[in-house]
Amino acid sequence: MHPGIREMVRETTLRAEDLVLPLFFDERISTPRMVTSMPGVQVWPVEMAAQRAKEVEASGVRAVILFGIPMEKDEKGSGAWASDGVVQRTIRSIKEATGLVVIADLCLCEYTSHGHCGLVEDGEVLNDETLILYGRTAVSQVEAGADMVAPSGMMDGMVQAIRMALDDAGHERVPIMSYSAKYASSFYGPFRECADSCPASGDRRSHQMDPSNAREALREMELDAAEGADILMVKPAMPYLDVVRDARQLTDLPIAAYQVSGEYAMLSAAMANGWLGEEAVLESLLSIKRAGADIIITYFAERVAKGLR
Ligand code: PBG
Repeated sequence: MHPGIREMVRETTLRAEDLVLPLFFDERISTPRMVTSMPGVQVWPVEMAAQRAKEVEASGVRAVILFGIPMEKDEKGSGAWASDGVVQRTIRSIKEATGLVVIADLCLCEYTSHGHCGLVEDGEVLNDETLILYGRTAVSQVEAGADMVAPSGMMDGMVQAIRMALDDAGHERVPIMSYSAKYASSFYGPFRECADSCPASGDRRSHQMDPSNAREALREMELDAAEGADILMVKPAMPYLDVVRDARQLTDLPIAAYQVSGEYAMLSAAMANGWLGEEAVLESLLSIKRAGADIIITYFAERVAKGLR
């Protein structure tokens, strides 16, 4: 058989345009910081944002999602919506230097002294009071130049609150990519090392989902869609491919899947030992796309985009 036939009948292909690269910027550093649990990933000083973004653009990656670590944290996470906050400054530099699609992760956990995703009282996260701060953060990220916001705190009503805040500020056209089905997963461990966002006490089980539940994810996604989300996300990706598939069947909205830090760490460790070859990365991304994701957020984005070119 001609090998071209195998290509003609190929059902799923991966494109650089499908990928989003997460980037971390830390206001407290002046040289890049390595992340031991994520070989090849670095946390960057804000001053290097433009330079770093140009490299990313040259790889063929079209979109980045930004996380910031502020100089100072407080009870409320006020660095998240400061007009000269770490992410706002980073967005401005990247937009000035490149044509990348800039997505702002929207959460308070990197900005609060206690490391929780919202306001906390008596050890409990206050849902509704937190929504006001999410709205404020969204507006400030968009006014700095963000092309899309991605709320990751899983508070109830967060998409609607952000949509209303953005509309009121005249940003009706800015889309929201919601972390709709976000599991209370142990695969976020390495991320918490890079974002310095480990909860000081307790965990995120009050608002992140139980790994045992799949139907609940569909309810969360239906709610987010009804509140006006433009893209629905499932996170992590590989351990939740069934949920990605369910999401695909549930809605016509675009679906994003986040191949998280622990998935990256796992594959990287095996590759570093020679236990897996580099092709495992493509296979993992292809499996996520085959399950139904349109967009894949992955720390491998730059490496893979270079290979696809
Ligand atoms: C919260 C957020 C987290 C991740 C993305 N956004 C951490 C958490 O929920 O604890 C994890 C991403 C990863 O592990 O790669 N702002």
